[in-house]
Amino acid sequence: MNLIIKDNYDEMSKATGDFVIDYINKKADTLLCIAGGETPYGLFKYLIEASKNGKVDFSKCKFVGLDEWVGLGRETRGSCQETLYNNFFDLLPIKEEQICFFNGLAENLESECKRVDKFISDNGNIDLMVLGIGMNGHIGFNEPNVPLDTYCHVVDLDPITKDVSVKYFDEALDVKQGISLGMKTINESDTILLMANEERKAEIVRKTVNEEKTPLVPSSLLKDFPKLYFFLDKAAASKL
Ligand code: F6R
Repeated sequence: MNLIIKDNYDEMSKATGDFVIDYINKKADTLLCIAGGETPYGLFKYLIEASKNGKVDFSKCKFVGLDEWVGLGRETRGSCQETLYNNFFDLLPIKEEQICFFNGLAENLESECKRVDKFISDNGNIDLMVLGIGMNGHIGFNEPNVPLDTYCHVVDLDPITKDVSVKYFDEALDVKQGISLGMKTINESDTILLMANEERKAEIVRKTVNEEKTPLVPSSLLKDFPKLYFFLDKAAASKL
């Protein structure tokens, strides 16, 4: 695992962004997956600015969603789709055909999983996976006690994930399930960037980095991934 610890959130976002830019500059047709949630906001801003300044060209890239709350679509502020489109995709000069995102409102969630799996395999697996880390160590909606042999799947949300969910929405929503890329999809990526900032993440970062691998802390399962880069700010790294 490569640990990159920066003084603050902006520096962490910039370092992650520079990695992404460098990767795309070497592989123009990168299949990129970036988590929703709050962690990547700074990264989005940095990449959008870099695109405007001609430092990176996303026109040949493909983008796939990492996860979504079952029952929520783009019209719900705080859904993963809304986060990615309103803060990233819509602000880049890219076309809708380049993007494949989960529809959390799909009637048939199994077909939705198959559709996303197919997009990934048709594009030769994910090149660059940018993940946040949940307070319980989840990555995507791969929750504690995660099975290792899954591609896209529907999951029952962990109680901690449900509790934390209130921060994303304008009103408390009764979210019970998620739809997510699985550990197999994640492990078949070429390179994984994991990001964490703020003191509240310090304990789960410590468990991820310093304790044994366990499915109870899904992020710890990434430890031996050959090309894993863990970007942290000082506060999140404070217990290492
Ligand atoms: C969101 C996602 C989640 C978040 C994680 C951290 O698409 O996949 O795993 O990355 O819950 O969330 P934040 O960044 O809000 O702390």
